[in-house]
Amino acid sequence: MNVILGVGGGIAAYKAAELARALMEHGASVQVVLTAAAEEFIRPLTFAALTNRKVITDLFAARSAEETLASSVEHIRAAQENEVLVVAPATADLLAKFAHGLAPDFLTTLYLAFTGKVILAPAMNTNMWNHPATRDNIETLAARGNYILPPDEGLLACGTTGAGRLPDPARIADAVMTIGHPRKDLDGEVLVISAGPTQEAIDPVRFISNRSSGKMGYALAAKAAARGARVVLVSGPVNLPGPYGVEVVSVRSAAEMRDAVMTHLEEATIIIKSAAVADYYVANPPPQKIKKTAARMSIELDPTADILAELGRKKGDRLLIGFAAETQNLVQEGRRKMETKNCDMVVANLVTREGAGFESDENEVTLVLRTGESIQVPRMSKFEVADKILDQALKLRLALYSRT
Ligand code: PMT
Repeated sequence: MNVILGVGGGIAAYKAAELARALMEHGASVQVVLTAAAEEFIRPLTFAALTNRKVITDLFAARSAEETLASSVEHIRAAQENEVLVVAPATADLLAKFAHGLAPDFLTTLYLAFTGKVILAPAMNTNMWNHPATRDNIETLAARGNYILPPDEGLLACGTTGAGRLPDPARIADAVMTIGHPRKDLDGEVLVISAGPTQEAIDPVRFISNRSSGKMGYALAAKAAARGARVVLVSGPVNLPGPYGVEVVSVRSAAEMRDAVMTHLEEATIIIKSAAVADYYVANPPPQKIKKTAARMSIELDPTADILAELGRKKGDRLLIGFAAETQNLVQEGRRKMETKNCDMVVANLVTREGAGFESDENEVTLVLRTGESIQVPRMSKFEVADKILDQALKLRLALYSRT
C-alpha cells in the first residue's frame, strides 16, 4: 500500500518517525511530507533514512525554473500515486486549514488534491483540543469522510494532564493499514486468534512463563482485521497496544486462555493458536508467598489442558491453524502436531534462529498444510508473515471445505 505520511509541527512530531517505521514493517511504501513547522521539531534526514526516500518539505522550495515547474505538479502526482494520506500529528492549525480549504504549503495543497482515504491523528494541548473551533473543525472533517483517530489521555508535553496525546504509533499504523487495505478478502470471517505467553502462578508473587512477546499473534490479528475479518484476540500478558478494530480478551493462565477461546469457538470460522501456552502449571499454589530457605526446593507441576487438541476435536469445518515452536526437525514435528491435533495448517517456527521466533520483529516459518505441501516463508516482518499465513488459510479453506 502506498501511504503519504504528513507530519505537522507539534512536539509529537518525533513519534512520526516511529510511525514511518511501523508502516514500513507492515509492508507499506511511505512518502513523508513535513510542514515547515514540523522541520523545527524533527529533521527530514531521519525520515529519509527510515523510508529510503527523499522527504518532501516545501511546495516552493525548488531553486531552478525547471525544478519550480516540476514541483508545481508534485502534489498532484503524490495525490494520484498514493492510496492513503495519514497526518500525524495533526495540529490544531493543520485541522483548521484542512477544514477551511486553505492551501499555503505542500501538505495542505496535497490534502485538497487527494482523493484517497485521509486519516487524521490530532495531538495538541487539552484546551486546544477542547476549543469549540477545533471541535467544529473535527466535526466538519469527519462529516467529509476523513477518519479521525482521537488523541489519548495522559501527561502532555506542556505539563498538564488530559486528552491530547498522539496515540501509540503502532496503533496508528494498524489503523492506517486497516482503513486503507485494498483487499477485504476476509470480509464475513470471524477469526479467533490466541497470542502471547501464559503465566502460571507458583505463589501470589511468582509465576512460570516464557519469552513470547505476542508480536506474531498481534500481527495476525491486525492483518486479519485489515482484510475485513471480525477478530477476537485472546491474549496472554504482553506489552503491546490492542490492534485497531480488534476485540482483545486479556487472560493470564492457560486455564483462562482455554475458557476464553472456547467461549468464542461457536462464532469462529478460522482459529489461529499462535500463543505460547504453558505446558505445565502448579495445581494448588499456596495463598502466601513461599519463604526463602537455604534448602533445595522443588515444585510439583501438572500438565495444562491442551487447548489446540480440544479445538481439533470440536472444530467441525472451521479452519484450525496451530503453531509449533521447535528447536529441530521443523517440518516433521509440524506434521506430527498437525495430525495429532487435527489441524489444517501448522506454522512451524524454528525458534533457535537469531532474529526470528520469540520477541523479534521478524520471523521465518514453514507452513505445513493438510493438503500435503509445506511452504517456506523466508525472513520478513511478522506482519508480512501474517499476510502469508492468511493467504494460505483462504486457499486451504477452498481446497478442504468448499461446499458446492
Ligand atoms: O510472541 P512472539 O514473541 O512474537 O513469538 C512468536 C512465537 C514463537 C511464540 C509463535 O510464533 C509460536 O511459535 N507459537 C507457538 C508456541 C508454542 O507454544 O508452541 P508448542 O509447539 O509448544 O505448541 C504447539 C501448539 O499447541 C501451539 O499452537 C500452542 O498454542 C498450542 N498449545 C500448547 C500447549 C497447550 N497447553 N495448549 C495449546 O493449545
